[in-house]
Amino acid sequence: MKAEQGIVLVDRDDDGVDKAFRSDVLDGLSQPEKAVPARWLYDDAGSQLFEDITGVEEYYPTRAETEILETRGAEFAELIGPDRAVVEFGSGSSVKTPLLLKAIQPGAYVPLDIAGDFLREAAADLAKKFPDLDVYPVEADFTKQVELPREVLDMKKLGFFPGSTIGNMVARTAVDLLRSMRATLGGEESELPYLLIGMDLVKDREVLEAAYDDASGVTAEFNLNLARRINRELAGTIPVDALEHSAVWNDDFARVEMHLRATRDIAFEVSGHRFELAEGETIHTENSHKFTRRSTNTLLLAGGWTPVKRWLDSEKRFSLVLARATELRNAP
Ligand SMILES: C[S@@+](CC[C@H](N)C(=O)[O-])C[C@H]1O[C@@H](n2cnc3c(N)ncnc32)[C@H](O)[C@@H]1O
Repeated sequence: MKAEQGIVLVDRDDDGVDKAFRSDVLDGLSQPEKAVPARWLYDDAGSQLFEDITGVEEYYPTRAETEILETRGAEFAELIGPDRAVVEFGSGSSVKTPLLLKAIQPGAYVPLDIAGDFLREAAADLAKKFPDLDVYPVEADFTKQVELPREVLDMKKLGFFPGSTIGNMVARTAVDLLRSMRATLGGEESELPYLLIGMDLVKDREVLEAAYDDASGVTAEFNLNLARRINRELAGTIPVDALEHSAVWNDDFARVEMHLRATRDIAFEVSGHRFELAEGETIHTENSHKFTRRSTNTLLLAGGWTPVKRWLDSEKRFSLVLARATELRNAP
């Protein structure tokens, strides 16, 4: 690995707390319907808990996506070609990444995540597995355009966005994200970047709700960790024992919603600000939108990406889509 520490593009206060975390929490708890953006579920503890979730029986997305990556390598190689810099958005543990890297002979690997310590550990592990590959971790928020390491600027790019993380965003934000990915990846008309993106599919409510509320309680811990993180990092006094995890399918919006629900009336402080939750009231902590073939194509096209090929796992639970940046032409 060339860049041990990697690049850090996060603005922290004197206590080392990400300033955007504080403002998002204070703003989100001040709304009539309390909500905190899902990205803040992922501190070091949350990232580890997410890893644990990927191993529980009910959580099928990781197994399904891994199956596609394991079986379609030759097709990726043919369509994508060698020597691209692979920029992985929300790389987390990078556990699935070796399957892609082995298939396509990349020129470099840039894992990008908001959970910095976890990112650097995962990048170091991956660099050991691929000693000849240059790995440049970047700690950043991928919802904004990110300046990539100068070493990869002249390479052709492949964006890799597995895990159906796109589903954590509402449509408007997802479109903005797809556009900023396009801006991050750059590339002129002659060498338009590709994007390989995991998108989970609409299916039975029971299967979906179980995937986000496993019997062993790992997802509940993942969700409750957000309240613990607020207490740890933002001088919070949230009584975590008065919160319970809830995961419910919202059919109108085709998404599983995760909430933290108060089991009694509570009052607490965060960074010196006072908040109240009445019994039964919730803090909305995550959306996981699910897609159909049409909604996938509509979203990608709106975000500036033209679908090229779509693969499903053998049980048709999950899709992996290869898209290419859309050339800018005059309408229609
Ligand atoms: C659903 S997990 C997927 C992890 C991994 N890619 C996988 O497929 O298993 C989402 C990942 O995206 C990261 N993430 C979420 N929001 C982010 C943001 N705004 N900027 C950068 N990383 C983000 C999280 O830290 C986490 O590692």
